[in-house]
Amino acid sequence: MKDNREDQAQGIWCREADAGPGATSEAEIRTLVHAFYSRIREDAELGPIFNGEIGDWDTHLAKMCDFWSSVMLTTGRYKGQPMRAHLKLKQVTPKHFDRWLTLFRQTAEEVCAPETAERFIEKAARIAESLQLDMFFKPAQADPARRAGCC
Ligand code: HEM
Repeated sequence: MKDNREDQAQGIWCREADAGPGATSEAEIRTLVHAFYSRIREDAELGPIFNGEIGDWDTHLAKMCDFWSSVMLTTGRYKGQPMRAHLKLKQVTPKHFDRWLTLFRQTAEEVCAPETAERFIEKAARIAESLQLDMFFKPAQADPARRAGCC
């Protein structure tokens, strides 16, 4: 499999064009993103984390629509650095990622046709795995203080 971490460091998460069965649209992305974060905000496990970190929800939702537009429609609208945004979340554990993916799956299956939902879920799972690799399995990078005494 091609190593795409260089792309990801530049905010490019997907180079495949999405068309045909399972394709989505900007309108569907917006519906999915808004429904997903409404659910997140009310969730007992994830709500306190997101509500504690995000002050301006309108800006976050707009950013997440850009992100999914870049991932699913390759529009290149998202220019951020997801790795950096997540590395600073010290309270987050792999269990939170499981919950995030469960809620994302539920929402995608409600909002989208089955083939489209699968495409979203597959991309989300791949990105979640990549984020977790950096957050939990590269301790020196996740927390430079831990470098002391190591290698
Ligand atoms: C337990 C899992 C997760 C938690 C708790 C979490 C939490 C957060 C929080 C609090 C922010 C806002 C950071 C800030 O504005 O400073 C954020 C941003 C973001 N998250 Fe997550 N996230 C999770 C999983 C994911 C996953 C799986 C994806 C992608 C599929 C994702 C994509 C993003 C993106 C693109 C941003 C915007 C980063 C930026 O450019 O500022 N997150 N996340």
